Amino acid sequence: MAALRYLVPALAVAGRAVAQCSNAATTTLQSAGDASALASCSTFSGSIAIATGTTDQIALDGIQTITGSLTADNATQLTALSGSSLEIITDAFSLSSLTILTTLNFPRLVEVGTLDWTALPALQGLSFTTGVQQASSVSIQNTQLNTLDGINLQMVDQMTIANNPYLNDINMQLGNITQSLILEANGRNVSATFPNLEWAYNMTFRNVSQVSIPSLASINGSMGFYANFFSSIAGSNLTTVGGSLSFVSNEAMTNLSFPELTTVGGGLQVANNTALESVDGFSALKTVGGALDFNGNFSSVMLPAISDIRGAFNLQSASDISNSCNHFQPLSGSNNVIKGTYTCSGGESHPGGTGTLSPGTNTGGGSSSSASASSSANVVYISGATGLMGVVAAIFGML
Ligand SMILES: *[C@@H]1O[C@H](CO)[C@@H](O)[C@H](O)[C@H]1NC(C)=O
Ligand SMILES: *[C@@H]1O[C@H](CO)[C@@H](O)[C@H](O)[C@H]1NC(C)=O
Ligand SMILES: *[C@@H]1O[C@H](CO)[C@@H](O)[C@H](O)[C@H]1NC(C)=O
Ligand SMILES: *[C@@H]1O[C@H](CO)[C@@H](O)[C@H](O)[C@H]1NC(C)=O
Ligand SMILES: *[C@@H]1O[C@H](CO)[C@@H](O)[C@H](O)[C@H]1NC(C)=O
Ligand SMILES: *[C@@H]1O[C@H](CO)[C@@H](O)[C@H](O)[C@H]1NC(C)=O
Ligand SMILES: *[C@@H]1O[C@H](CO)[C@@H](O)[C@H](O)[C@H]1NC(C)=O
Ligand SMILES: *[C@@H]1O[C@H](CO)[C@@H](O)[C@H](O)[C@H]1NC(C)=O
Ligand SMILES: *[C@@H]1O[C@H](CO)[C@@H](O)[C@H](O)[C@H]1NC(C)=O
Ligand SMILES: *[C@@H]1O[C@H](CO)[C@@H](O)[C@H](O)[C@H]1NC(C)=O
Repeated sequence: MAALRYLVPALAVAGRAVAQCSNAATTTLQSAGDASALASCSTFSGSIAIATGTTDQIALDGIQTITGSLTADNATQLTALSGSSLEIITDAFSLSSLTILTTLNFPRLVEVGTLDWTALPALQGLSFTTGVQQASSVSIQNTQLNTLDGINLQMVDQMTIANNPYLNDINMQLGNITQSLILEANGRNVSATFPNLEWAYNMTFRNVSQVSIPSLASINGSMGFYANFFSSIAGSNLTTVGGSLSFVSNEAMTNLSFPELTTVGGGLQVANNTALESVDGFSALKTVGGALDFNGNFSSVMLPAISDIRGAFNLQSASDISNSCNHFQPLSGSNNVIKGTYTCSGGESHPGGTGTLSPGTNTGGGSSSSASASSSANVVYISGATGLMGVVAAIFGML
């Protein structure tokens, strides 16, 4: 190691004529001069880091490919970082805690291994003219970005976009997401638009105002919508969810529409969507491999194609759901459609999830807590199911 001390100055001198274009360790840049010393390296083999104390603007002009990472962490005086010819960063493009970074200018960047940006409180926009099209993983959190123009991925394994309070538009051409997508706590009016997305492993949407997934045909794992602001959610081409599908606390949601969905491999949960009056958006649903758990303030639930629910069945509402309870109760039983524990109850002051009522409860009108039904298929007319209700239930049953 000691020998290195004598070697470094020699290399530095050589560097004036022939830049040192590779480094098995990381090359740390302190100044604009350190960056321009690399200008003749069309390929830089190794990783580049920006020193924490850097006050100069850093322009990595000349470099087209960095075979390692480009990192700036805690360079709190750095205002601008650019690379006029940089096209590829093989490993990570990692930026964190850059307090006053306002300019990020990479007009030719198309491919990065992973993109990980966090805590960039002054960064409002990107100058990525070509646009990043390939990255295995993208995480953008705690920035002031008001647009992601410049990041238009065709493919990604994992993407998290969270806590970017000025970001109101997320629109990508992605065809698939092989691991997961998480959107959370971005702009209050953020719309998430994925016009070409055909399949994803997992997706989670939180605090989103609009979701557009017109081509989505399948989810390998799970998909969940939590505390979003939209009034309507549709997955018009979605046929299969391998794991679970959840809609929780979407308080403005009045319309849920998944007309082609036939199979949910795990649980199907619709909970605390207080404005949802009718759960009628699963018109083709045949199979639920796990539990079906609906609770909220709806007055009707329609599952006209349902033929197999392998887990528990729980419907609880603040409203009268006699019609629905009367329809589903006869479908329960070990050889029947609903194979797990059956509960159905309306007029609940605190509609709860699976397991919060005694098994077998079937009190659609909610007027009597003792009207628990046995699992005998003959118990059709219970409290709340008056003559008119009975007729409605009969019609409903025939639909
Ligand atoms: C960030 O850099 C400043 C000075 O450059 C240093 O004092 C501070 O400890 C660093 N913080 C972290 C989390 O690295
Ligand atoms: C994933 O999407 C990309 C871009 O749309 C496409 O080229 C690729 O064929 C897709 N892969 C699979 C397995 O669907
Ligand atoms: C998908 O989500 C499930 C449930 O949260 C998790 O167990 C699984 O690891 C995730 N898979 C991927 C590929 O992200
Ligand atoms: C919210 O975004 C939509 C487009 O997604 C736009 O039409 C609407 O005007 C925006 N509302 C506000 C209050 O900015
Ligand atoms: C965002 O969603 C989470 C739950 O997923 C929720 O706890 C939080 O209150 C929501 N934030 C807003 C501003 O609605
Ligand atoms: C929906 O799926 C059908 C059949 O798989 C396909 O032809 C159609 O293009 C899809 N629609 C969209 C908007 O992707
Ligand atoms: C996820 O589903 C898509 C479309 O059905 C399929 O091409 C892909 O191989 C699946 N991925 C995994 C990991 O199962
Ligand atoms: C619910 O949304 C679907 C799909 O966007 C639409 O076709 C349907 O008319 C909507 N229903 C109501 C009652 O708004
Ligand atoms: C629904 O809201 C109630 C009351 O606020 C809460 O106890 C329950 O955990 C919520 N359910 C879900 C699935 O978030
Ligand atoms: C349920 O909806 C009814 C009207 O549809 C409304 O009067 C009632 O306040 C709602 N209850 C809750 C707990 O949201």
